[in-house]
Amino acid sequence: MATPPIDAEMLSLFQTELELCKVRPGETVVALTAANEWQDYAQAFMVAAQALGADAFHLNVPRHQPQAAGVQGRHPLAGNRPAIDTLKRASLVIDMMGLLFSREQAEIQAAGARVLRVMEPFHVIKQMFPTEDLRRRVEYAKTLLEGAKELHITSRGGTDIRYRLGQYPVISEYGYTDEPGRWDHLPSGFSFTQGNDGEVEGTVVIMPGDILCAFKRYAQSRVRLTIREGYVKAIEGDGMDAILIRSYMESFQDPRAYAVSHIGWGLNERAQWHHIAATRHLEREHVMNALSFYGNVLFSTGPNTELGGDNDTPCHLDLPLRDCDLTLDGVPILQEGRVVHPEMRVPGR
Ligand SMILES: [Fe+2]
Repeated sequence: MATPPIDAEMLSLFQTELELCKVRPGETVVALTAANEWQDYAQAFMVAAQALGADAFHLNVPRHQPQAAGVQGRHPLAGNRPAIDTLKRASLVIDMMGLLFSREQAEIQAAGARVLRVMEPFHVIKQMFPTEDLRRRVEYAKTLLEGAKELHITSRGGTDIRYRLGQYPVISEYGYTDEPGRWDHLPSGFSFTQGNDGEVEGTVVIMPGDILCAFKRYAQSRVRLTIREGYVKAIEGDGMDAILIRSYMESFQDPRAYAVSHIGWGLNERAQWHHIAATRHLEREHVMNALSFYGNVLFSTGPNTELGGDNDTPCHLDLPLRDCDLTLDGVPILQEGRVVHPEMRVPGR
């Protein structure tokens, strides 16, 4: 079977990405894929790695079942000990299989390998491609979250919710990784943490234009979530959106599905809120634009194993909210969906 030619633009961009990841001569870069997925990316990453003097190879595993939308932490590498041991010896694993949130990923990182998830269409990678300034702003957000005791979100729509912080770590995502054992996701652009156990209280009002990522859908009606001691206790609203959210969460028959999960805000000024609407006709579109767009509050429910917690419910809702105010210990970060903190502002935005 003939190997498809490598796209010159893809090769060039992936080489830039590996340079941001500080891939050096003598390092080992492993392209990890499942079945026949992302084969063009795997070839381009391997050639780009070789151009930088690194050793490169491709590790491919079978995929028995397609991944269900919104279901995390289940992947075809589970139990494959020789493959996991091989990945632990890599300098950089390009994860095009979907390790996210799994024990195996934690084990590979703990061995010192950096892990870069790449599962977005090429046009999205180009559009949201990371910069060193994006990294600076995302790392600034991480530092602020690490030092904060309370995060408070309000909106004209009626959101008013407080998170006590300090129990959980903070994760940054800016789209490349040059530190041993560090994970990142190309492309992205936000930092996030999780409220202390039992210490998230208040109301989130989902408004028209906010995004229900699990359904790749924009909310068209108000939904009021009442949150007590870190759990969603009521989902109210007369429109289709409340019905969808209630039905979806109930379907897991798991009380842990109602836990409030990660919280943060978007900082990628090249990500577009309208992406899902504009690309509805395309296959393979995901939600990184929705999660990363500049000034969104990324509210979520479900698992917290990614942050070291023990809730591994497969029911995960990412809900990027527009037009919110967000403060950390009273310091304004966002006002009506605009980034107002001087260290994270982008000129002209
Ligand atoms: Fe999430």
